[in-house]
Amino acid sequence: MGESLRVVVTGGNRGIGRAVAAEAVRRGHRVTILARRPDEGSAAAREIGARLVVGDLSCVRTAWHAAGEIAATVPAIDVLVHNAALWPSRRVLNEDGFEQAFFTNHLAPFLLNHLLEDRLRRVVQVSAGLYVTGKVDPARTPTGEDFHPVKTYATTKLANLLMLPLFAERWREAGVTIDAVHPGVLRTGLGDRGGALGLVLKLVKRTWKPAEHAAPPVADLLAARGTGRYFEESEQVPLRPPALDATLARRLWNDAAQALDVA
Ligand SMILES: NC(=O)c1ccc[n+]([C@@H]2O[C@H](COP(=O)([O-])OP(=O)(O)OC[C@H]3O[C@@H](n4cnc5c(N)ncnc54)[C@H](OP(=O)(O)O)[C@@H]3O)[C@@H](O)[C@H]2O)c1
Repeated sequence: MGESLRVVVTGGNRGIGRAVAAEAVRRGHRVTILARRPDEGSAAAREIGARLVVGDLSCVRTAWHAAGEIAATVPAIDVLVHNAALWPSRRVLNEDGFEQAFFTNHLAPFLLNHLLEDRLRRVVQVSAGLYVTGKVDPARTPTGEDFHPVKTYATTKLANLLMLPLFAERWREAGVTIDAVHPGVLRTGLGDRGGALGLVLKLVKRTWKPAEHAAPPVADLLAARGTGRYFEESEQVPLRPPALDATLARRLWNDAAQALDVA
């Protein structure tokens, strides 16, 4: 068995996060899950043999608090897995005025990376292959003025992925690494909604593999070496053009740093 790592998985109470956390425990790692609902979080933590940090990545205030709770519970983090995310069906603004998915999927990992970077060795970002269909408009996307029930999710994952080379560069000298992974298309609660689209999605999801399918490729990355890489399940692949726009990436980075008051 390899080194036992201290691993933190956000959104570890269900879906892919839970499957990855459980697999990490099976591999001998010391796992802490972050979940926003204490009851569901403690049940999941108990069942998989992980520790629980209760924290909500919905807005600046609660994400700062979550970072503090993580730091207090796991003072030295070997791997932080950013997994928590949502696929919104309608435009909802959080208390800061950000479109909810833009905040949770993109700004929350950005903030946690900054707040926890001194105690981190590695980050694994759970991404999504759909990023290729995203289109970030820095003037409109943060507040969801370009909201679309399918595209917005892809756009938030693209925004998040655009940060990958910049974090890799920022941390290179310190030896902190970051890789991103598309976990596969899997049957989870992601994007569940009512109406006709919800029904279609429900039927389509029946044909998809269960979340556990994501566990080995993501868990393999916990102890991997390398940085700035993107994986489709277990295969390293080059990022496609939408994620290679360095000017857009820098603009998004600066906007996020200013909005979140981090340097
Ligand atoms: N499923 C797929 O086919 C697929 C494909 C590509 C990429 N992904 C990625 O895989 C990751 C996990 O998705 P999933 O499919 O497992 O989705 P899921 O079943 O909907 O789980 C999402 C997780 O994120 C948590 N979460 C959402 N908002 C949060 C918040 N404000 N604070 C804290 N936790 C929050 C949820 O907590 P609650 O239980 O409290 O809501 C839940 O634990 C996401 O990054 C997603 O983009 C999934």
